[in-house]
Formats: sequence, structure tokens, C-alpha cells
Amino acid sequence: MLSILTRKFSSPHLLYVGMGEMGYHISGTLSKKFPVTVWNRTFDKAQKHANEFKTTALTGPDPFAHDISHIDVIFSCLPTSNEVSLFADKLIASKSAKKSNLVWVDNTSGVPATSKDIAKRLEQHNIGFLDAPISGGRAGAIKGQLAVMVGGPAKYFQLVEQVLQPLAKSLIHIDEKVGSGHAVKGYNNLLYACNILLAMKTAQSLEANGVNVDKALRTIMAASGGSNSMSRVHQYATNNRTIDYNFKTNLLIKDMDIGLSMFDNQDKDPVFAVFKEIKKIYNDCAQPNWENSDIFDLYSFIENK
Ligand SMILES: NC(=O)c1ccc[n+]([C@@H]2O[C@H](COP(=O)([O-])OP(=O)(O)OC[C@H]3O[C@@H](n4cnc5c(N)ncnc54)[C@H](OP(=O)(O)O)[C@@H]3O)[C@@H](O)[C@H]2O)c1
Repeated sequence: MLSILTRKFSSPHLLYVGMGEMGYHISGTLSKKFPVTVWNRTFDKAQKHANEFKTTALTGPDPFAHDISHIDVIFSCLPTSNEVSLFADKLIASKSAKKSNLVWVDNTSGVPATSKDIAKRLEQHNIGFLDAPISGGRAGAIKGQLAVMVGGPAKYFQLVEQVLQPLAKSLIHIDEKVGSGHAVKGYNNLLYACNILLAMKTAQSLEANGVNVDKALRTIMAASGGSNSMSRVHQYATNNRTIDYNFKTNLLIKDMDIGLSMFDNQDKDPVFAVFKEIKKIYNDCAQPNWENSDIFDLYSFIENK
């Protein structure tokens, strides 16, 4: 039900599509506050989620083949905007009755132009769309400490703000334009890729010079050269090269491409050339195991080079 005065759902029911590294834990956190239904291409993960979080798992190849007439907000966290677009088409084609104030919130790190197109198609069926990519990894999703960056009309943001709040240490409605969240996320991950690579190389060079890596990185983290990326590299380097965090290299490369595609003057810009070189290092690292390479594989890949 929708409260007309406050423009927010009074007891929203959520459907979460995509139980990957992020979607699984984001929907788990949401389930502590709201009734959540989940769907995943591989059903086992949806079933596991239902057992762990007392959510409802949908079966089959199409979440919208089920009755979703009670759902107020659809969430998605899929690899790219292409998959989101396919599922938006499935929703449009579905015979299931839909709420009049249905809003789709896309947590995928997507492509701004594709998101604009998805929003346009959904709008023709009175379904709102917001791009709301996230940053903060699995730990941020579990603790509700993600940075959530939202693009799209304020009327939809107002409706779902209460639903996004439990996920976020930072929740910013960037702009009325759909795609502005994805644009910010593209640049964020371009910076992230550079920072991780530089932090890894710093740790390795310090070690090669006989400096205590733990103390050195803790010092830098408290000083001006520190970053969130360095804190992840510190965890990895001081914990027998393990970290409880998964992020596929091919997904980060996709994000770097989204960031790079927004640069003007690409041919003449020397900074653009630096970003491209860094992307090439990630690309070379991922090539032999494209589907499964993780960004922390880069640590060994660049070692002694
Ligand atoms: N990992 C991170 O730390 C992180 C952080 C911020 C943002 N992101 C972004 O979040 C998004 C998801 O990343 P992730 O790390 O959660 O990915 P992931 O662990 O690889 O999970 C991908 C999910 O998408 C599903 N999927 C893949 N192809 C599909 C298709 N053709 N049709 C339907 N479902 C499909 C997978 O289903 P199956 O289980 O059946 O394979 C799985 O549920 C990406 O855009 C990524 O860039 C990731």
C-alpha cells in the first residue's frame, strides 16, 4: 500500500533477482526489515537463501512467470545491463498483475545509456526504474554499510528511500537522470582498479626492500597515501594472502570500460592512456581464466614483474 502524503510504501514487499556475491547478501540484509522473495538462475542458491534468511524462493527460468501482484519493489544485481534489459523485457511481457506503483531498483554496475533505455521501456508500462549501483563488497552488504549511488526521478527515489536506507552507510540521490548512478560507479571503479593495483605494488616493493609490510601499510593507511583499497591489500598481504571478498576481474574490467567510455578527448589525453594501460594489466591477468579470475589474482600476477 502507498501512503499518498509521504510517498512511501507502508509495508513494502520486495523481489530480489540475482543471488550472486552481492545480491545474496544485500537481499539477506533487506530480509531483516522487509518481506523478501528471491530468484536466481541457479535455483540452489535461492533455496539456500530461503533456508538461511526465511525468504521465499521462486523456481524456474523466469521470476515474472510467478504471481508478483504483491511486490512493490523489484531489485536486480546481475553481471551487466544486458541481463537486466532481458529481464525487464520478461517483466513487460509477463501476464502477472503488477502494482500500480511498482519500482525497479538496479544494483548492477551497469551502462548509463542502457539503463536509460530500460527506464523508457518500463515507464511505458507505468513501472519506475532507478539505477542504484553499490560499492563496499560482501562485508558492506552484510553490515548494511554500502555506498549506494542512485540515478532517476525523485518521485521513485522517495518511494524506495526507506528500503535502501538499511543497506547504506552513504545513500545519495545523484541526479534525476537515469544512468547517473551508473556513471558515478564507472568512475569509482576506474579509481578502485588503479588504487588496488598501486597498493599491491607498494606492498610488494616494501617487502622486497625488507620493510615490515604490516607496519608500513598501517602507517600509510593513517597517512595521506592511504585508501580503502590499501586496507583490503593490507588484509590480504598480512593474512597469508587470503581475503573474505570476491570480485571477478572481468566485472571490474567491464566497470573500467564504462568509466573510460565517458572520457572526452580520448586520443590526446595522457591520463586516459594511463588508465588504459592499467586496464591492460587486469586484462592480461584475467585472460587465462576469464570467467573465474578474481581481482586478488592480480597480486601474484604482478609480483616480480
Ligand atoms: N563482487 C563485488 O564485490 C561487487 C561490488 C559492487 C558491485 N558489483 C557488481 O554487482 C553485479 C553482480 O556482481 P557479483 O559479484 O554479485 O556477481 P556474481 O557473484 O558473478 O553473480 C552474478 C549473478 O548473476 C546471475 N547471472 C549471471 N548471468 C545470468 C543470466 N544470463 N541470467 C540470469 N542470471 C544471471 C548469476 O546466477 P548463477 O548463480 O546462476 O550463476 C548470479 O546470481 C556486477 O555488475 C558487479 O560489477 C560487485
